Amino acid sequence: MIVLIGFMGAGKTTIGQLMAARLELPFLDSDEAIERRAGRTIRDIFDQDGEPAFRKIEHDTVRALLRGPDAVLALGGGAAEHPATQRELALVPVIHLKVEYDGALTRIAGDPSRPLLARPDLAEVYARRLPIYESLATVTVPTDGRRPEAVARQALRALRLATIARTKGSHP
Ligand code: S3P
Repeated sequence: MIVLIGFMGAGKTTIGQLMAARLELPFLDSDEAIERRAGRTIRDIFDQDGEPAFRKIEHDTVRALLRGPDAVLALGGGAAEHPATQRELALVPVIHLKVEYDGALTRIAGDPSRPLLARPDLAEVYARRLPIYESLATVTVPTDGRRPEAVARQALRALRLATIARTKGSHP
C-alpha cells in the first residue's frame, strides 16, 4: 500500500493515478469509496449529517481500504487529522504532496463538490494541517507549478530511496 496525503488541490488523484499506472497497482480514492459506501455525495453527507459524521465515515472507510489489497490510495485532505487514522498511517509508506495555500486555492476555487471551501477559516485549517502531513509523511514532494508526471516520478524515486535507507538502517 502507498498512501497519498495533502491539502485539497495538491493533485492527489492525478498523481496517484500516474503512480498506480507505473506500479501496475489499482488506484483508490477515499472520497470515492465514501460516496459509494454511503450512496451519497460528500457534499450531501456534509449538508445532511455534518462534518463530524463525515469524519467518522471517512475514518471507517480509510481503515477498511488500508486492510484491503495493495493499491495507491489517495486520502481526502482532512483524513490525516483523525487520530486513529494517524496511527494507521504510521504503519505504511506515506507521500505528502505539498501544495502552497495560494496554489491550492487557485486549483480548487469555486468547486461546489468541496464543502470546506465555504469555511472562512480555511487558511487556518491549512496551517494546522501542514505539520500533521509533514509528521506522517515518509517523503514530501512539492507540487506547485510542476507537471504531474514529474511529481509522480519524484515521489516514486523518493519512496524507493526512503525504503532502501530504512531497510539498511534496520539491518546494519
Ligand atoms: C476535505 C477534502 C476533500 C473531501 C472533503 C473534505 C478536507 O478531499 O474529503 O471535501 O477536509 O480537506 P480532497 O482533498 O480530495 O479534495
